[in-house]
Amino acid sequence: MTMNRRAFLKTTAAGLIGAALPLRLVKVAFGADSPAQDFTFGYISDAHIQQIKGTKFVRNWDMGLIRAVREANLLTPKPDFFMFGGDLAQLGKKEELDHGLEIMSNLRGKVYYVTGEHDYYLDLGEYWQSKISPLYYSFDHKGIHFVVLNSILTYDNWIHKKWDAPMDRMLAMARLDNPDGSPFMVGDDQLAWLKKDLEKIDRATPVVVFSHSPIQKIFKPWNFWTEDAEQVQALLKPFEKVTIIYGHVHQIQYNQIGNISFHAVMATAWPWPYPESYTQLPNCLSKLTVPMNRADPFFERDATGWQYIDLDKGRTAMRYQLPDNTNRTVAYSTQDGRPEDLTYQEYRNRIPPQRHY
Ligand SMILES: [Fe+2]
Ligand SMILES: [Fe+2]
Repeated sequence: MTMNRRAFLKTTAAGLIGAALPLRLVKVAFGADSPAQDFTFGYISDAHIQQIKGTKFVRNWDMGLIRAVREANLLTPKPDFFMFGGDLAQLGKKEELDHGLEIMSNLRGKVYYVTGEHDYYLDLGEYWQSKISPLYYSFDHKGIHFVVLNSILTYDNWIHKKWDAPMDRMLAMARLDNPDGSPFMVGDDQLAWLKKDLEKIDRATPVVVFSHSPIQKIFKPWNFWTEDAEQVQALLKPFEKVTIIYGHVHQIQYNQIGNISFHAVMATAWPWPYPESYTQLPNCLSKLTVPMNRADPFFERDATGWQYIDLDKGRTAMRYQLPDNTNRTVAYSTQDGRPEDLTYQEYRNRIPPQRHY
């Protein structure tokens, strides 16, 4: 008789170990007290669906999202769920959100949504909440506690200052390098909510937080930044295993601050350059991060993509799927206590930056 691993464990637990060990040890051996299981979820982000006029939308952004959805549907075994990391729309219009949702509806599985600034600053999240999801919430899955934050809020006096039209506020927040913009933050109300949410979670339970902006300070002029990042980090400090996964930066980044591992996800729309390579201004990109190789900066799909994420004993391995570029895996190393690129972390393995003239 052949027996698969699961059937074997069942039989062993019930028939052999169960009979021989005291109940408490059986529970420990089979993880009843620490029930984090291994599984996979998909992650698509920053689609920036943009209306031109009426039913006309920017085709390239549509195609990025369509391609990611098609590829993610091919994952076997099927991921447990999908995340969308924010910036579904370009200018927060109903038409853009509806069109983006229509493409996303082809994804086979449950989708959890994170809000981006491009989804929010036209109507302050009103349509998003009525149609898509709350702006922040938490859920549990197979022994992991997941938290979705709305990290793109800002100062009330900026949000509610006298704008000629809501679209002016949207456009002000949508631009990089805009001196009239305002830094992102989670804000006091949400910090209080997060504190309460985490109070009921056992310190040994792995926690995965999803945000749109990085909950760390990388580069302020582009809002690769969350003003109250340290306060969020402090609330997460008591937990043994914490991962924060964010969109917004449209490039691979990773970092380790204390007990918290950070990972960025790819955009389906376009890649941002790394701040230093473009602005020459000082920035705080983690030294850990091996920048992505842009094989062809003149090809608009290059360095865009999506990812699936393996949960391994409560730690994450990010599997970046990059059409027309090299796929990359950045995974937590238990030996070094931080995320590492499985292929390029060592300096001698890195691909030298390419120059195009
Ligand atoms: Fe974005
Ligand atoms: Fe964004």
